[in-house]
Amino acid sequence: MSLWDRKVLPFLIEKACRSGVILEERRRHVPRAAGRVLEIGVGTGLNLPFYDASKVSELIAIDPSPELLERARARASQGAVRPTLLQASATALPLDSGSVDTAVMTYTLCSVDRPELALRELRRVLKPGGKLLFVEHGLARSPSTQRWQRALTPVWKKFSGGCHLDRPVREQLEEAGFFLEEIEEKQGDGPSWTGYTYEGIARSG
Ligand SMILES: C[S@@+](CC[C@H](N)C(=O)[O-])C[C@H]1O[C@@H](n2cnc3c(N)ncnc32)[C@H](O)[C@@H]1O
Repeated sequence: MSLWDRKVLPFLIEKACRSGVILEERRRHVPRAAGRVLEIGVGTGLNLPFYDASKVSELIAIDPSPELLERARARASQGAVRPTLLQASATALPLDSGSVDTAVMTYTLCSVDRPELALRELRRVLKPGGKLLFVEHGLARSPSTQRWQRALTPVWKKFSGGCHLDRPVREQLEEAGFFLEEIEEKQGDGPSWTGYTYEGIARSG
């Protein structure tokens, strides 16, 4: 891993993911997690303060980056729910099949190398009918924005920890076999090529 990825990127990810709009999204979705919860791509732990201790029986949070997990560890003591933090990839989850009630994924799918594999793994570990709470940025609906997103992604991902601007989140969830119980797509503030978001609840079949 390069010096950029180890030293600069954790700082940039923390800064980018702390905007007021994103914190509001966390506040809206994370408290809906209940039972045995798995968060994939926990990053620096910005969701951790938002879990509701009266609903969560266990919280497991994974990320492949030791640098980001170290920051998450520092934040873990601030929340009401103490997580078990594991270094792992969403594409090979160290959990039994059908053992998770709720999965949480915020601004993670964009950076996972094999998103179809990660979604398949999520469906494997979720109980039948279990829910995935998601907030992701991805492919916009406007053709001109899509052109920018596709053109910029090869360069952008080199400096952003593998983040893709052009992931068609709705279609990826559906192709993986999730049922979209609730989904909102919107063009948020900021540059159109990073600001198109998908948020809601997907159910494993
Ligand atoms: C933009 S950050 C978002 C962090 C966090 N989810 C948040 O909302 O603040 C993208 C995250 O995806 C993680 N990631 C990348 N590849 C992954 C994989 N294969 N499995 C799980 N997480 C991954 C990165 O390490 C990073 O923490």
